Amino acid sequence: MSQIVIHDKTFIPLIKNEEIQKAVSKIALTINEQYKNETPIFVGVLSGVFMFFSDFLKNYPGKCEVSFLKLSSYDGTQSTGNVTTELDISTDITNRHVIILEDIVDTGNTLEKLYQLLKNKPVKSLKVASLFLKPDVFKKDFQIDYVGICIPNKFVVGYGLDYNGLGRNYTNLYQLKED
Ligand code: XMP
Ligand code: MG
Repeated sequence: MSQIVIHDKTFIPLIKNEEIQKAVSKIALTINEQYKNETPIFVGVLSGVFMFFSDFLKNYPGKCEVSFLKLSSYDGTQSTGNVTTELDISTDITNRHVIILEDIVDTGNTLEKLYQLLKNKPVKSLKVASLFLKPDVFKKDFQIDYVGICIPNKFVVGYGLDYNGLGRNYTNLYQLKED
């Protein structure tokens, strides 16, 4: 694994795809164990989640449905705190077990907004799984039910995550190289 350049910035390797795959499989099997007699709906938060979502489903052996919504808060390498909904959830989640899948939780602003959007919906249960978490930044008082890998407070790209549109196609995760 060597460093990569995207736009004006250099990124260095942080987590190899093999390690990511182990974390994804562990989350999928843990959730399946807890929902094996149910048919949960997995709701992916686009766009960054697409690669995690796909690998997650390939590792999930039980009955399930899928749905997506789109939120955005990032501008370049900074979380703006201003979360906008670009695409609303496309499935009726009334009386269903809903599990939100996120690529990464950073400040938690996006998740907070999502809870506000979903709080008046009569779901049977609501949980959150995030592949990556930046614990040094996340200071909200709600919990993330399933976390794959905790990472340092560095801007990361790859495995679905982008820097101004580029870098989503790398299968490994890279962190911004500080100068
Ligand atoms: P918040 O701060 O609301 O961030 O928890 C959540 C969303 O922002 C994106 N995000 C990132 N995207 N590298 C990225 O490419 C990062 O290091 C990063 N941190 C947050 C992501 O879409 C996440 O769902
Ligand atoms: Mg996201």
